Amino acid sequence: MAKFPITLSRFIIEQQAAHPEATGEFSVLLTQIGLVGKMIAHDLRRAGLNKILGTTGETNVQGEIVKKLDQIANDTFVRVFEHSGLVCVLASEEMEKPLKMVHEGARYMLLVDPLDGSSNTDVNMPLGAIFSIRRSRTGQSVEDELLQKGTEQIAAGYVLYGASTMLVFTVGQGVHGFTLEPSIGEYLLSNENIRIPSKGKVYSVNEGNYHRWPAGTQRYLDYLKVQDKPSGRPYSGRYSGCLVADVHRILLGGGIYLYPGEKDKPEGKLRLMYEGNPLAMVVEQAGGKASTGTMRILDVEPKALHQRVPLIIGSAEDVSLLEDYVQGRA
Ligand code: AHG
Ligand code: MN
Ligand code: MN
Repeated sequence: MAKFPITLSRFIIEQQAAHPEATGEFSVLLTQIGLVGKMIAHDLRRAGLNKILGTTGETNVQGEIVKKLDQIANDTFVRVFEHSGLVCVLASEEMEKPLKMVHEGARYMLLVDPLDGSSNTDVNMPLGAIFSIRRSRTGQSVEDELLQKGTEQIAAGYVLYGASTMLVFTVGQGVHGFTLEPSIGEYLLSNENIRIPSKGKVYSVNEGNYHRWPAGTQRYLDYLKVQDKPSGRPYSGRYSGCLVADVHRILLGGGIYLYPGEKDKPEGKLRLMYEGNPLAMVVEQAGGKASTGTMRILDVEPKALHQRVPLIIGSAEDVSLLEDYVQGRA
């Protein structure tokens, strides 16, 4: 008889068998994130037909034009979690302030980038959602509770809206990927215990910003393009405009994604709390590295919910070499 597929719920419950301190609540929380993924994937499959493309005309706290799908994705996270009884606070790229959920006593805090890669919405290119889960230590103010280092996350992951819809996450016990089987509406285990190669052959960066990068970063990108077979160069450039899609490619195949700081914007573009930290936890759990260029992303002390951070993430050897260039050792 064919091997019975492993559903998300079964996998999480079996994971918890090894970790009795994690209650069943956690498996429900991850399943709820999967529900958001199913609902958004459903919308995206016909986005060109149901008038949900284009912009809302609003500008968000990031100073970016809000796409209708950004708003839909954010509202879907709010609707699914506000009555779940699992999450006491929801923080989002699309909301200036964290949103207190109905159940203030709930144990978990959820931080999300509800739709990642928004420049791709109207051209049918890959999109994602990124989530970071923290435990609420009651009694502190919401801001203090949220603004903890990335090492304090208890789980993190992403939904990739690609050719198929995938849910990839870690609870600190390795990284596992599930693929949505739309015909039964279940996420089935497709990539157990993902390990990122220690070195890759792909780099992912918006080269249009080259002249704004610090000299060390420029020299590293120049190095990757030199013809030198023994060191696997030149690397291939692959950049989709969706961080989740680009990091997923690198997580499975190896390589390096960079959104560096720039001369007039040293903090870069990507947000620490709901882009850098969750993806850094995933990639480190798979054996890779995530750095600002000078320090480990997960060790950055947050000062503000929407603060930006330079993000260099991927294979350990590739990220370490970038750090050598940036810090003047190469
Ligand atoms: P978001 O859509 O959540 O704002 O994220 C967009 C991010 C990331 O997904 C992507 O890699 C990067 O911005 C693209 O930025 P550029 O268009 O500047 O390359
Ligand atoms: Mn994003
Ligand atoms: Mn976003």
